[in-house]
Amino acid sequence: AEHQYHEFVIQRTPVKRLCKTQSILTVNGQFPGPAIEVKDGDSLAIKVVNAGPYNISIHWHGLRMLRNPWADGPSYVTQCPIQPGGSYTYRFTIQNQEGTLWWHAHTGFLRATVYGAFIIHPKQGSSYPFTQPKREFPILLGEWFDRDPMALLRQTQLTGAAPNVSVAYTINGQPGDLYRCSSQETVRVPVDVGETILLRIINSALNQELFFSIANHRMTVVGTDAAYTKPFNTGVIMIGPGQTINVLVTANQPPGRYYMAARAYQTAMNAAFDNTTTTAILEYKSASCSRKGPAPRPILPALPAFNDTATATAYTSGIRGMSKINVFTDAADANLFFTVGLGLINCTNPNSPRCQGPNGTRFTASINNNSFVLPRTTSLMQAYYQGIPGVFTTDFPPVPPLQFNYSGKVPRALWTPTPGTRLLKLKYGTRVQLVFQDTNIVTTEDHPMHIHGFHFFVVGSGFGNFNPSTDPARFNLVDPPVKNTIGTPPGGWVAIRFVADNPGIWFLHCHIDSHLNWGLATALLVENGVGPSQSVIPPPPDLPQC
Ligand code: C2O
Repeated sequence: AEHQYHEFVIQRTPVKRLCKTQSILTVNGQFPGPAIEVKDGDSLAIKVVNAGPYNISIHWHGLRMLRNPWADGPSYVTQCPIQPGGSYTYRFTIQNQEGTLWWHAHTGFLRATVYGAFIIHPKQGSSYPFTQPKREFPILLGEWFDRDPMALLRQTQLTGAAPNVSVAYTINGQPGDLYRCSSQETVRVPVDVGETILLRIINSALNQELFFSIANHRMTVVGTDAAYTKPFNTGVIMIGPGQTINVLVTANQPPGRYYMAARAYQTAMNAAFDNTTTTAILEYKSASCSRKGPAPRPILPALPAFNDTATATAYTSGIRGMSKINVFTDAADANLFFTVGLGLINCTNPNSPRCQGPNGTRFTASINNNSFVLPRTTSLMQAYYQGIPGVFTTDFPPVPPLQFNYSGKVPRALWTPTPGTRLLKLKYGTRVQLVFQDTNIVTTEDHPMHIHGFHFFVVGSGFGNFNPSTDPARFNLVDPPVKNTIGTPPGGWVAIRFVADNPGIWFLHCHIDSHLNWGLATALLVENGVGPSQSVIPPPPDLPQC
């Protein structure tokens, strides 16, 4: 195993997109930020220097960080943010993970431009469970906004309205051919006739799930969220923010230029969204150099309609894990049921500029009717480790005892959540079954739920209300996929299983950042009864203070 050292300088950088130069936050002046490439077992030290104007921290999305919450990164959860002029070195080791992950800012909406790939290759001497592809390319899907992400966040927090939508989607930071002033920079993926390549697709969009497809080419999914899957052949994938999908693509078509394209999968009814399409070009090498004059326009793939839940479901339900390593097949020690969804806060003065949500309300979001509030004076983990009282409570509520149909319309008065910094305590070693149930207060919506510090098995999902007496009988305990982020289907549920084998405090939240900032979150406090100083490594001396 090797040791790698990196320096990430967070800075403002002028970037020209869609005919206009904007100053955005980048790492080392790069957008997207630098890709980290390691082997399983390697250890890293990544010094993050904050030369930008905002408090910031970096999260290494999907890395387990066993007993090392200090390296996880979410602001006010496991660390105070790094203040302008400050720095912090994240130190961690890759432990039994391979595949595609990513890193991103975890403060407000700053991950809109501060993100990059995190690629873990097999250990020396071991290899992929499929034929080694000739070439590998990261494909980072993103959203481009015509304003500063912090201004976007202020707009939604101050007005109570939904956030402004993006003006373009991007592939590796570029909107692509179909947008103005973007053709020259369109990302090109060169292939030789007949060769097979590996695309490491990452959805780093702030608020949008996406369909992705390649004209005339099928894809074979071989991994998701840094875990291998059984090969799954498909013409289209649906990828939620936070998720990664590895696909093999064989250049078996007549030499030419083919668009790979992504656009929105939007399940919230009546929501405003960006309905544009981003493209990159799969370019057969013989096609690019054999002709003179302008190259013919590539063929565009047929992408599903924005609300095509049937296609999204056909994709997600086709994914099977490699084996049942660690999935427990007997009853869980803890059966948890989390309702996830948006809510509305009634305003005393509906004409107030702070009440620009539907019908003079403010948007909010919650889990089990608790709308999560981050602390401001320290982080949860620092408060826990140092025994600082009054920062959080561990009375995370069970599902509210209200009788209603989650897939039906709910009287609004019932669903104004309570704000709180309420954590869920789990005893170390607990075998957890957790069902996320989408509610329908404002609208049904697919919520990509992410848990830090763990990966989990996705054992079942369905539409409508979860039925605890019949649905578990249909769970897949044989080859469920391993994920760190899983969509809760719109108006439906998803069931996961994992062992609470990582002590510390771990954020759990919807990876749609507007929902996260409205409170669709909680944190798991995993403890073994001996106190944090015995169960996690000591905090590094340069851990930022608030
Ligand atoms: Cu990728 Cu808490 O996030």
